[in-house]
Amino acid sequence: MDKFIIEGPTPLQGEIAISGSKNAALPLMAASILGDSPSTLDLIPKLRDIYTFNNVIRVTGTKVDFQEDENRLVIDPTNLSHTEAPYDLVRKMRASFYMLGALIGKMGKARVSLPGGCAWGPRPVDLHLKGMEAMGVDIDLDGGYVVASIDGEEVEGGEYTLDPSSVGATINLVLAAAKRAKKFIIRNAAKEPDVVLLCNMLVKMGADIQGIGTDTLTIRKAEILKGVEMSNDPDRIETGTFMIAAAMHPESDLTLTGCKPEDLGTFPKHFKKLGVDLTINGSTIRIQSKNSVNPVSVKTEIYPGFPTDLQAQWATLMTQADGESKVTDTIYFDRFSYVPELNRLGADLKVEKNRVTINGKTELTGASVMSTDLRASVSLVMAGMAAKGTTEVLRIYHLDRGYENLEDKLNAAGASIKRVQE
Ligand code: EPZ
Repeated sequence: MDKFIIEGPTPLQGEIAISGSKNAALPLMAASILGDSPSTLDLIPKLRDIYTFNNVIRVTGTKVDFQEDENRLVIDPTNLSHTEAPYDLVRKMRASFYMLGALIGKMGKARVSLPGGCAWGPRPVDLHLKGMEAMGVDIDLDGGYVVASIDGEEVEGGEYTLDPSSVGATINLVLAAAKRAKKFIIRNAAKEPDVVLLCNMLVKMGADIQGIGTDTLTIRKAEILKGVEMSNDPDRIETGTFMIAAAMHPESDLTLTGCKPEDLGTFPKHFKKLGVDLTINGSTIRIQSKNSVNPVSVKTEIYPGFPTDLQAQWATLMTQADGESKVTDTIYFDRFSYVPELNRLGADLKVEKNRVTINGKTELTGASVMSTDLRASVSLVMAGMAAKGTTEVLRIYHLDRGYENLEDKLNAAGASIKRVQE
């Protein structure tokens, strides 16, 4: 397993180009198998999760050609014959569960392994399954697999209200309904840009979806969906991560290029309260810090609210704020595994239920810390770049799932990060 050795403190100065979005790419890849001809996807990042999903899709007999140097994926589903997504692949990446909706849409049946945990355990998929049943899909659980089928070529549809709103369940239900449901309404649907991009691609393929960008989606089945060319969105979470990383140091001057600022929702509003200069100009975002940041408490919400995927990064920044702040996660109540690791670096964070209280400003001193999940890991890298001395971040395979060329990008902007084989 690889680790990072980071020398700090270093400001971030210079330019970083934002990669394609991991969380937007995965649904586009799933949608591609619904077509009756090949689809070409651009701005696809070279990430572990993309390679994993390529292999999941290949199991069905679909041809997947990843032209890595061009960040281009060509997916040809014309020989798709096998309607299964096996446990040994699905367990590596939860979003493989999108194969349930895609295979029901494509073939009218699917046998897909449950992602980690059970249908109703941590990171449940109960909303996916109840929504499918409401649509008229037969759902059985068999030895850790969901076995889905429909009677005939189509289902009546109907409607289903997501409570809570769920990005994954919205995606899965849209994928299943696009070719199979006479009329299906999803209420309290997720409005994340990832969902909007998926719906726009499906409409380009020939789907009939009303209410795109709102919390009520109405889908009416299309007989044929054709393969298309589609460009992925830039990664809004990578963008927010680097904005926060720049604010960690009082002498940063970082320009992010290839951004899609409108996908950041209300995040810039919170960011401006830090007292850091933020200039948004088309697809370019410039962050110029001048001294310590203000303490700014935040609460995560569904889009366009403060994203849960930036919660750990924000709490890490608050260790450098002059004063106390609180970060509350209303989406995931247990997404605080980074806290004990930050405290090892000298931070002062206390977790109570789904809220962390940060006592700033604390000076961070380098130490060895352990990555536990994707966003916690990048927070430890950010802390290492702000800490005095040497920080070792272990198990950085978590990072390779969701941040393309992370150390190259940060080193080109003044960081000192070395990747070492463990
Ligand atoms: C997507 O996960 C993202 N993953 C997550 O990003 C992100 O944190 C999350 O949306 C919220 O924005 C991908 O896009 C691949 P949800 P998803 O279903 O779809 C509960 C990252 O770091 N729920 O919107 O799995 C669930 O427990 C990842 O890139 C149910 O109760 O999230 C959570 O509390 C991490 N039953 C809430 O809904 C269900 O059937 C939101 O989850 C489904 C979800």
